[in-house]
Amino acid sequence: MIGYVFLLAICLVAKPTSGTMTLNCQKAFPTSTLTKNYNETIAHAIHSMTVAGLRVFSPKASANNFVPTVNQDLSQEQTVLDHAPEHVLGHDFSTLTMNIIDNILSTLGNSMDGLGPHWSPVERVTHVFHMWDLWYRIKESAWPRVQKTPPTDEMCTCLASVEFNGIKDAVQWVANHYKTGTPTSYLLTLLNQPIPKLTDAFAWSVWKQRLMHYYTPEALQDAAMYLHCVSQFW
Ligand SMILES: *[C@@H]1O[C@H](CO)[C@@H](O)[C@H](O)[C@H]1NC(C)=O
Repeated sequence: MIGYVFLLAICLVAKPTSGTMTLNCQKAFPTSTLTKNYNETIAHAIHSMTVAGLRVFSPKASANNFVPTVNQDLSQEQTVLDHAPEHVLGHDFSTLTMNIIDNILSTLGNSMDGLGPHWSPVERVTHVFHMWDLWYRIKESAWPRVQKTPPTDEMCTCLASVEFNGIKDAVQWVANHYKTGTPTSYLLTLLNQPIPKLTDAFAWSVWKQRLMHYYTPEALQDAAMYLHCVSQFW
């Protein structure tokens, strides 16, 4: 059923662009509440997703989850993985928070946290907790609404088809920027302006303003819809 609908959706809206199919879920489902830049809002929400993060949404999440993420080890050839990885945290400390900090600081200098070599330690800590914070915000705000009025099967097939709908490309865009750039280019095309190194309170006020762009109801709704749809395949 899902496979059939998928083909149908491709036939209806795919346009060959330099040999690859491009499926625009926002155009294909104009009555949905997806934003125009859903590829970017969703890619942002998932680019450093882990199985533990997915379990915020469904206990069924496993290593076979179809959520594309930036490879934590950016020195490998494949910089975008097809599934969010299992992220093994230590238990040396008592709280989850301290164990996460331990995990981040233990990779300093070897760039194995998926951010490449250009982020400072405090920027790395901020990034990890921003992502967890965003996932919890999605879960408590947009997620219940999506559960109440879920997207159609057709819409879900479109959203879950990350190879075709621009989401995987947008995750690849993030990976490429982490590899070659600094957090200057961390935020996507929506906010493609320099962001200062996080060294003082003023710099943080700029960071905070940028990060808040991902907490708009529309951005949270995009991410909740995608996560709902991909979770149908777990
Ligand atoms: C997201 O999609 C828009 C519209 O198709 C496109 O212009 C933009 O480059 C895409 N962004 C990324 C990061 O792929």
